[in-house]
Amino acid sequence: MVWLRAEQPVDLDGVRRVVEAAFGQPDEARIVDQLRADGDLAMSHLADRKGEIIAHVAFSPAQVIDDAGEPREIPGGLLALAPMAVLPEYQRQKIGGGLLQSALMRLEREGVGAIVVLGHPEYYPKFGFTPASALGLRGPFDAPDEAFLLRVLRDDLPRDAFHGMLRYAPALQG
Ligand SMILES: CC(C)(COP(=O)(O)OP(=O)(O)OC[C@H]1O[C@@H](n2cnc3c(N)ncnc32)[C@H](O)[C@@H]1OP(=O)(O)O)[C@@H](O)C(=O)NCCC(=O)NCCS
Repeated sequence: MVWLRAEQPVDLDGVRRVVEAAFGQPDEARIVDQLRADGDLAMSHLADRKGEIIAHVAFSPAQVIDDAGEPREIPGGLLALAPMAVLPEYQRQKIGGGLLQSALMRLEREGVGAIVVLGHPEYYPKFGFTPASALGLRGPFDAPDEAFLLRVLRDDLPRDAFHGMLRYAPALQG
């Protein structure tokens, strides 16, 4: 049985362990710690198997900066998905997919406007993400178009809501 739930204070070491193991280096786990320390961990969702944390996904606030340098108003707000991690021995067993679906459903219910992700171009489209550039959104990093993806969760967003440059929370902005 895998329990999908929100992070609790007691989970911090387990989350760090999953993220480090999935990426094979400490950088992404440090980003999660920094997001949390900055108050920017808008959602930290995990998969718990008999008390062991086996997968984790983080969301943090992001902004779209228009050509005049002003942040755009996005109803419900925009969140960046990063990082996402599954313990190596549990990868490719639909654990990450289940966790991501559950997180997205929850965010949609909460009225969040959209989610942006920079990640595997073959993975995120399975969950409704499409190239962000099609909606006029540019990323601050030099990444291929097909890796910079957006999923709109509300149907009442202004047409030009994503015209501009993405600004991540400081821990992700680098
Ligand atoms: C990427 C990751 C989060 C996916 O989680 P997972 O539990 O292994 O994925 P799932 O089993 O839910 O896979 C769902 C689907 O995506 C596919 N998939 C899984 N990992 C993939 C990858 N790295 N690239 C492309 N497709 C992938 C699966 O084959 C499956 O396809 P199907 O539905 O057609 O059968 C996980 O493998 C991981 O932690 N990788 C290392 C860290 C990382 O790269 N994080 C993401 C950064 S963007």
